[in-house]
Amino acid sequence: MPTQPVHRNPPSFERDLLAQLSSRWGKRVAVKKDELDLDGHFDPELPDFPDQLVPMLNLPAASSLDPERRQRIVSAAWIAYNAKTAAIENEIILPACRLMLEERIPMRRDEVAVSALHQTIIDEHYHILMCHNAVGVTRRRRELTDLTFDPDGWSVVHGLKACRADLTGSERDLVEIAFALAAETTIASFLSVISTAFDIQPMNRITVDMHRKDENGHAVVFRELVAPLYRDLGHGDRELFKDALVQGLTAFRAPDFDPWVTVAEAGEFDISTEQLAAAASGTTIPTRDTGSLQLLLADLGVDSKFAETVASAGSKPDNVRVIV
Ligand SMILES: [Fe+2]
Ligand SMILES: [Fe+2]
Repeated sequence: MPTQPVHRNPPSFERDLLAQLSSRWGKRVAVKKDELDLDGHFDPELPDFPDQLVPMLNLPAASSLDPERRQRIVSAAWIAYNAKTAAIENEIILPACRLMLEERIPMRRDEVAVSALHQTIIDEHYHILMCHNAVGVTRRRRELTDLTFDPDGWSVVHGLKACRADLTGSERDLVEIAFALAAETTIASFLSVISTAFDIQPMNRITVDMHRKDENGHAVVFRELVAPLYRDLGHGDRELFKDALVQGLTAFRAPDFDPWVTVAEAGEFDISTEQLAAAASGTTIPTRDTGSLQLLLADLGVDSKFAETVASAGSKPDNVRVIV
């Protein structure tokens, strides 16, 4: 006798996106994979970073750079990108993840949620190690061992500090979570600009691609945890959170002129921040896709006018950036 198909409602565990993601963590994330043979994926003939993400190369004076000086600038840009990535992980994402584990934050705190946050913390710290290891090879192979960047010198780090400066208590907590949400729901699309640049250093492209894949999961973790938090906020706190979210998206695209001057100096290319601003205005900058964030906002019932503001803050191509 033929067996009748059994129809059943999936148990709540199966419908829990966070539970599904968390249960597969050991199989999908970079920290659980074999370490990349960095030197084995280094080709000295290839550029270390996509040219189009190095705005100073658009300056008329850059045409006089010989290939060696130009290569040093591009390599320095890769080092700057990693320095900024590590600073954002350290100053914005990791503190927000740890904050979300605090009892005082009215957030989902079951086993799945706590596991997902600890997993995210491990991922983010591993991303810092990935940056450190990759840059170590670049410094050695390109003889750029003395090139350093101030961890507090990035606009987005200043942006968070400015945004929360006059706040205390739960308002300060909300701003920190909003900035991390801005990063975690929009970063993967930017990383894909580097991870699909098949004409650059394989070591660098693969390292960024590993980071990108992890961030696809983080976008879900943040959406799943922050949406209920937002829904339970009162009107005033919702407005504060939304404002911080837009400020976060804007800050992630803000120019980092001083670090770029340092990048140029690596190739003995003297430029000013004014020249950089001019170069930036003529550069096509990859947009930060806010699609994932828009999904979250729609979920929350945030009005369409605010969603448009978010889209504009995330995609306005008006500044120089070394990103994450
Ligand atoms: Fe990360
Ligand atoms: Fe992340």
